[in-house]
Amino acid sequence: MDVLDLARTQFAVTGSLHFLFVVLTLGLAPLVAIMHTRHAMTGRPAHERMTRFWGQIYVINYALGIVTGLVMEFQFGMSWSGLSHYAGDVFGAPLAIETLGAFFLESTFLGLWIFGWHRLPRWLHLACIWLVTLTAYVSAFWIMVANSFLQNPAGAVERGGHLVLTDFGALVTNPMLTMALPHVLGAGLWTGGFVVMGASAYHLFRRTADREFFTGSLRLGVVAAFVGSLVTVGFGYAQFGPVSLFQPDKFNGTPLAGLGLGFMILIGQLLQALIMFVLLPTVYWLPRWRWAHPILMLITPLPFLAAILGWLAREVGRQPWLVHGRLTVADAMSPGLTKGMITLSFVGFVGVLGLLAVVDYLLIARTVRRGPAAVTLGADGPADSTERAHALSL
Ligand code: HEM
Repeated sequence: MDVLDLARTQFAVTGSLHFLFVVLTLGLAPLVAIMHTRHAMTGRPAHERMTRFWGQIYVINYALGIVTGLVMEFQFGMSWSGLSHYAGDVFGAPLAIETLGAFFLESTFLGLWIFGWHRLPRWLHLACIWLVTLTAYVSAFWIMVANSFLQNPAGAVERGGHLVLTDFGALVTNPMLTMALPHVLGAGLWTGGFVVMGASAYHLFRRTADREFFTGSLRLGVVAAFVGSLVTVGFGYAQFGPVSLFQPDKFNGTPLAGLGLGFMILIGQLLQALIMFVLLPTVYWLPRWRWAHPILMLITPLPFLAAILGWLAREVGRQPWLVHGRLTVADAMSPGLTKGMITLSFVGFVGVLGLLAVVDYLLIARTVRRGPAAVTLGADGPADSTERAHALSL
C-alpha cells in the first residue's frame, strides 16, 4: 500500500467508526423527544421512565461520539491540505457551521435537558430535547452540504487556482444533497429503532421485570424502524436520479462501490420486508413471542452495516476525484507525508476511535442490562434513589 492508499484507508476507517455514533445519535434523538412529549402531555410515570432510560443511552452515545468527530476535522488539516488550499473557501464554511452547531448549540441544549430534570418548567424542558434533535438534524444538513459539494461542486467557480463560492443557494440545494440527506436521516431513524427494538427484545427474552416497559419500547422501536425504512428506501432509489446525472459511471467503474451498493440494497430490502410482514404484526399481536426475541437481537447491527456500506459506495465510487471533476485525491494529499507518519497516526486514531466505540458499546450494554430502575438521568427524587440503590445491589 502506498502513502496515498494508506491516507485514504485511514480516512475511511475513522469515518466509518465516527458514523457508527452519528447514525445512532440521529435515530435516538427524535425517539427520546417523542417519548418526552408523551410524558409532558400525559404526565404518566411510565412515559417518564421510558424517556429517562432511552435518554441515558442517547447521552452516553453523544458524549463519546462527539470526541470521534474531532479526529475527522484534524485529518483534513493533516493529510488533505490540498483540499483546504483548493476548496477550503467553500468546503470549510459548512464544516465550521456544523462544528459550532454540534459543539455549542446541541451540547448546550443537551446539558440543559440533562440537568433540567425536576428543575426546568415542564414545557421548557421538553423544548430542550426538541432543540437537541433539531440541532442534530441541522448538523447533519451541513455535513451533507459539505460532502455533496465534493460529489458535485455546485455554486462555486475556479478563480486564481482555487474555488470560490458564487451561489450559496446552489450550494445548499445541490441535487446530490436533496435526496441523500433524507436517505441518511431515514437510516438514522431505522438504526435507532433497531437499537430500541433489540434491547427491548433482550429484556423480554430474559423475562426480567418491566415487561410492560419493554413491550411498549419494542413497539415504538419497530414503528420507528418502519417509518425509517420507508424514508430510507424511497430516497435511496431517488438518489439514482442525481447520481446518474452527475456521476454516471459511479457504480460500474469501481467494483468495491458496486459491491457496497449491492449489499446495502440487499440488507435494506430484506429488513424492510421483515419489518412490514413479520415484525409489525408480531409486536402488536404477539409481542411476547419468545422465539422471535433472539432474532431481533441478532439483526440489530444490520442497519449500522448497511449505513457503512452506503458511505463506501458513495465515497469509493467518486474516485479518483476528491472534488468531483476538479481535484483528484492524489493532488489533495498534503505534501511531504510519509508512510511512517500515516502509519503512526493511523494506529493512534484507529486505536482511540476503536476504544471509544468499544467503551460506547459496553456502557450502553450495561445500561440496557441494568434496566430502567438503575437509570441515573433525572433520578434525583427520593423514590428514585431507593429504587436505584436496590437495582445496583442486584
Ligand atoms: C434498500 C434500498 C436502498 C437503496 C436503493 C439505497 C440507495 C443508495 C444509493 C444510490 C447511495 C449512493 C448515493 C451516492 O453515491 O451519491 C446510497 C448511499 C447511502 N446509503 Fe443507501 N440505499 C438503500 C438502503 C440503505 C440502508 C438500509 C441504509 C442504512 C440503514 C442506507 C444508508 C446509506 C448511507 C449512509 C449512504 C451514504 C450517504 C448517501 O449517499 O445518502 N442505505 N444509498
